[in-house]
Amino acid sequence: MPTLLWTGKISLPLRLLLNTGNIIAWITGNARNSSAMKERMKDGYNGKYCDYINKYDELASFHYEKIADSLLQKTDCKRKEVVDVGSGTGILAFKALEKGASKISCVDISRLMLDKCQEKSITKGYSNDAISFHEGDAERMPFDDATFDVVFISMVLGMVPNQQAAITELTRILRPGGAIALSTHGPAHYMEAIEAGVKTLKMKYFFSHRLEYWPRNEDEIKAFLKNAGLDNIKTERFTWVDEFENGGMVFDFFASTTGLWWYHRLPPEIREKEERKSRSYFLYNNVTQITSDVILAFGTKK
Ligand SMILES: C[S@@+](CC[C@H](N)C(=O)[O-])C[C@H]1O[C@@H](n2cnc3c(N)ncnc32)[C@H](O)[C@@H]1O
Repeated sequence: MPTLLWTGKISLPLRLLLNTGNIIAWITGNARNSSAMKERMKDGYNGKYCDYINKYDELASFHYEKIADSLLQKTDCKRKEVVDVGSGTGILAFKALEKGASKISCVDISRLMLDKCQEKSITKGYSNDAISFHEGDAERMPFDDATFDVVFISMVLGMVPNQQAAITELTRILRPGGAIALSTHGPAHYMEAIEAGVKTLKMKYFFSHRLEYWPRNEDEIKAFLKNAGLDNIKTERFTWVDEFENGGMVFDFFASTTGLWWYHRLPPEIREKEERKSRSYFLYNNVTQITSDVILAFGTKK
């Protein structure tokens, strides 16, 4: 079951507003339909709600590269069979290959993200033996038990409604002795953009829906790994602030990393107008900083 209450960092009035909406969403059933939530996420990363997702690499690769580097520094993938779950455009996957992984399987719920990953792989000259692409859901992986030596899942778990189910499923596809390395959204992740974004939402479309986003703290992530039966569990919190030239650029970054998936609630004919309105808010209110709050976690299978 997805968590009911919003656990991310946000000002008190907005937290009360969102959580009242979440409780109503739970009562009416909207916040209990995990498959519908995943479908909307998939649509967002397939570019259904805005074109920004096509600029994911251009506007946001600097952010995901930094996170991928910290996971890879602490995970040996040389001559290992690796899976990158929620691979997106393959930012981590290509680095793992450069670090000597023998084979990597990229899995993502979004066809568009996988297509972008595959195009990059062709440009980089990788063969089908080195890299493969699979449309799939972190909670139901299209692989047999004990297929991989290493599982990576980087900045995906925050968008998965049943996080324990996902970690248990990823443990299933690990070989005994294999390692899982994950990064996920901590409570303060993107807090300035979320605050500004929520303030610009047209409440009549959003109130009483649960936003499909579940940030976590280190203890919660540790518990997921422990409940999945993993050993040698370690976590780390990694936070920093990026400063942009203007608020419009923060909006552009935020939109390109999310595909504005929550816009599914807006009638299609007003999405572009709402996007412009929201961008102007970021610009004129000088939302020039964005915090990254990333939980890194590692474990091995007995
Ligand atoms: C913020 S991006 C991170 C992508 C990549 N890991 C990176 O570091 O650049 C989140 C990715 O997770 C994918 N995703 C979201 N929910 C998923 C799920 N349930 N199963 C698999 N992938 C999912 C999205 O399609 C998107 O590509």
